[in-house]
Amino acid sequence: MGKYEEMFQRSIKDPEGFWGEAGQAITWSKKWDKVLDDSNKPFYRWFTGGEMNTCYNALDRHVESGRGSQVAIIYDSPVTSTLQKITYQQLLDQVSRFAGALKGLGVGKGDTVIIYMPMIPQAAIAMLACARLGAVHSVVFGGFAPHELAIRIDDARPKVIITASGAIEGKKTLEYKPMLDRAIEQAGYKPQKSIIFQRSFVKAAMTEGKDLDWDELLKNAQPAGCTPVKATDPLYILYTSGTTGKPKGVVRDNGGHAVALRWSMEYIYGVKPGDVYWAASDVGWVVGHSYIIYAPLLTGCTTIIYEGKPVGTPDAGAFWRVISEHKVKVMFTAPTAFRAIKKEDPWGEFIGKYDLSAFKYLFLAGERLDPDTYHWAHDLLKKPGIDHWWQTETGWPITANCMGIEEMPIKPGSSTRPVPGFAVTILDSNGKEVGPKVTGLVTIKLPLPPGTLPTLWQADDRFLESYLKVYPGYYFTSDGGYIDEDGYVYIMGRVDDVINVAGHRLSTGEMEEVVSTHKDIAECAVIGVHDGLKGQVPVGLCVLKAGVNKSEEEIRKDLSSMIRDTIGPIASYKETCVVKRLPKTRSGKILRGTMRKIADGEAYTMPSTIDDPATLGEIEEALKKAGYAHKQ
Ligand code: COA
Ligand code: AMP
Repeated sequence: MGKYEEMFQRSIKDPEGFWGEAGQAITWSKKWDKVLDDSNKPFYRWFTGGEMNTCYNALDRHVESGRGSQVAIIYDSPVTSTLQKITYQQLLDQVSRFAGALKGLGVGKGDTVIIYMPMIPQAAIAMLACARLGAVHSVVFGGFAPHELAIRIDDARPKVIITASGAIEGKKTLEYKPMLDRAIEQAGYKPQKSIIFQRSFVKAAMTEGKDLDWDELLKNAQPAGCTPVKATDPLYILYTSGTTGKPKGVVRDNGGHAVALRWSMEYIYGVKPGDVYWAASDVGWVVGHSYIIYAPLLTGCTTIIYEGKPVGTPDAGAFWRVISEHKVKVMFTAPTAFRAIKKEDPWGEFIGKYDLSAFKYLFLAGERLDPDTYHWAHDLLKKPGIDHWWQTETGWPITANCMGIEEMPIKPGSSTRPVPGFAVTILDSNGKEVGPKVTGLVTIKLPLPPGTLPTLWQADDRFLESYLKVYPGYYFTSDGGYIDEDGYVYIMGRVDDVINVAGHRLSTGEMEEVVSTHKDIAECAVIGVHDGLKGQVPVGLCVLKAGVNKSEEEIRKDLSSMIRDTIGPIASYKETCVVKRLPKTRSGKILRGTMRKIADGEAYTMPSTIDDPATLGEIEEALKKAGYAHKQ
């Protein structure tokens, strides 16, 4: 048996032994009573009885063991021409003082704090300060509109919100404070205070008595120590798109999370303490939480906070410049970033301009890695390009080619084999396991390993309904796919209304809720269609109310700005087709899946339940006019 096989089998047969050993890599203020607590199935808890502090494990303990002068964070911001290196000692000082400031505002164990920040070190400081106090942070991605922020404020009910005055997005300067003000205005729940980090290029207008200046607050703050929390206490909530307008608040605990992430760095990414690790994502996404902040710091690595884009800041060589300048060993990003680079630099001319000798592995995730992009990256970089699959819910990879265990041959199109701890199983729609190469629903046999979601924020029932009751005994991923005869997993895409736009997870159901509020629209469907750069983009198909005389162009403009204002620019909603009717089953269900296939030019079978087959021809015509539906 190979090393991978041996480790994987042990993780499934003896999870307590396996994760109990991994748990030794974390410092506990009180050791756990039980590694895996299954007394309340199907809710499983890890390391019950144990107490620790995530911030202590990410900072203090490294300083205590002599890593104080090592760089913890490199802040590389081409958009503001800034390069800043922060050592573990300096980061600990800043985090302790910011934690002291939060404490002074009454933030303590179990309180929630929302962080709405661009890619600056203050985002990391705010997250770690919350962890230090045992407070629960919820980071909201900056590309979301005020309405989305308001939904999260109402659900998380934060005592304090932390933001910055603004950001530079590519070449645009954005103001965050007016967005925060609008969100608070829209929210039913009103946080007590907002802390604003003023950036030099955009000043936020402050409201006396409510808005506090980050620098002023720090000046008078006393450092705060670490508050021990239970392993099972929440560290953060991260909202992610589900199938409706109400996002799901994925909860992450402290103990299992620290153990799993620390383990993943060595065994999946092949990284050791002291290495430079770069996840080119955003702190607003799960990749940012796990692999910009927590995992590298828990491991004693140097992490990079990059405030820029893969292209245009200033050119398609940006990633190679960062890798060579900071001697990055492992990089992690989304395939869409590589497609953007490939589009501008198809022959990889920028690659040759930089010394990439320290660079060992490229990890890609967030969406399906198309073989074209894989080959381009692999051939030009001459480094293993490793596809790995995971979700906000799991917090770390479910399938991967584990570089710290045993490097396996790459099969383009597959994210390789299940990571130890994840018993990936393909089921048919009746919940029966299928054989090799049969496409079905991707599930994971319970229990999920440590670090994965224990529940949804104050929504145990929704957690059960969405993930555990669909196929009892399994966690339902909502992805479709298959496993081949060598155990390699192929993820083919979502089987629900969730789409992936430039690596950003969005809900078409939520977009439909917005579109249907347009006064001229009788009914609509929003589908995700293939896009060469972003992977998928949303397209709306709308039926107008009788007697409405607006042009398609007017409707398109209205809907684009409605989605932009309600969900945010990252939805990239640009295209609307006005149609006479939508294809439906005889019971009135809109045939979204069939329309998606038509839009992508894929073969489809006429659904036997269709009400009027002629509607499909009409949809094909409309989509063709918009530049889609060309046969592959
Ligand atoms: N704050 C505010 N607005 C943001 C934002 C942020 N943090 N991030 C993106 N936006 C805006 C963009 O400015 C753009 O607005 P526009 O319509 O006014 O131009 C819109 O949202 C769409 O952004 P994006 O999807 O990023 O498209 P793009 O054309 O600007 O860039 C890529 C395309 C591929 C370069 C870019 O999407 C990218 O780098 N993707 C990688 C994604 C990633 O790391 N995902 C994390 C998962 S691992
Ligand atoms: P998120 O929660 O934003 O990380 O999105 C999770 C979803 O992204 C998964 O359910 C998949 O549909 C998709 N995804 C992530 N990584 C991959 C991958 N390597 N291959 C295919 N799909 C992926």
